[in-house]
Amino acid sequence: MTESKWSGQGLANGAMPQDRDLKWEIRRLCDEKNAVVMAHYYTDGAVQDVADFIGDSLALAQKAAQTDADIIVMCGVHFMGETAKILCPQKTVLVPDEEASCSLAESCQADEFAAFVKAHPRHTVVSYVNTTAAVKALTDVVVTSSNARQIVESFAKDTPLIFGPDKNLGGYINAITGRDMLLWHGSCHVHERFSAGKIAELKRQHPTAKVLVHPECPTEVVRLADKVGSTAALLKFSVADEAQEFIVATESGILHEMRKAAPCKTFFPAPPTDGGCACNECNHMKLITLQKVYDCLKNGRPAVEVDAEVAEKAIRPIHRMLEISAKLGL
Ligand code: 13P
Ligand code: SF4
Repeated sequence: MTESKWSGQGLANGAMPQDRDLKWEIRRLCDEKNAVVMAHYYTDGAVQDVADFIGDSLALAQKAAQTDADIIVMCGVHFMGETAKILCPQKTVLVPDEEASCSLAESCQADEFAAFVKAHPRHTVVSYVNTTAAVKALTDVVVTSSNARQIVESFAKDTPLIFGPDKNLGGYINAITGRDMLLWHGSCHVHERFSAGKIAELKRQHPTAKVLVHPECPTEVVRLADKVGSTAALLKFSVADEAQEFIVATESGILHEMRKAAPCKTFFPAPPTDGGCACNECNHMKLITLQKVYDCLKNGRPAVEVDAEVAEKAIRPIHRMLEISAKLGL
């Protein structure tokens, strides 16, 4: 989690006056309404710059659980808002665009997942945080890419586990822990698109560059990695490591914070398989704009609501994740 240093003077280079006005208005509304703005590293740079906190999925959930603000503006995708709402049912949680979904969460429909779970009654259910509240309600413990390995390892090796919905993250955790978890066959459309061939070619052009890979990427991309980790772990590594150049195989929004945190280093977005674009963007994350952050704060909507019965079941595996993470110092 990065604590934003908003001073009212901190305009990003090249920001338009309109952006500056919106940022001032957003900060003013936050003060007036006791609201806090939290942003994921994949959101637009201008949104990250106006936020009180920037973080990965785990840090955003932890911060939401701790805040004393009355309103949480979750600049990210819908499951992040749902997680915050489940943890803080008394607070208003706003996600600036209600269309901001997640292809991974969509790849796991609750009724189909329920049938899968029912077919394997001896299995403990481990679900990635990138799921709907209804899927979390069918889950024993939630994980994020920051703590999946440690939480899986907290179960005895002979405990049969289901892991959903990301087959790539699940396959990676199986490989590094020597487990044989049953995997749901979901994936993220952004991370699936990275091309191992194009990354290898970029590495030939920049032989000293280290390759940073999110575990939602397919195995052939993970194999090229010098570091595999969550967005926060990749950011931390890029700042601390002695390398001066990095090829980054995750959503390109993270490059904003990497370049701010290590301005003398060079970061290359890993190329996708198809299309002429140089980087991969999550179309859902990019729905969150400064204008929509301002509008939702001003109007108090769209607010996230979670069915009370679903929330009552979903909070247990989320709490379990937060408790294990706290014990492990994650
Ligand atoms: P992190 O938990 O690593 O931030 O990842 C969230 C995500 O949606 C990855 O695509
Ligand atoms: Fe979901 Fe993929 Fe976007 Fe992450 S990058 S929010 S997993 S669609």
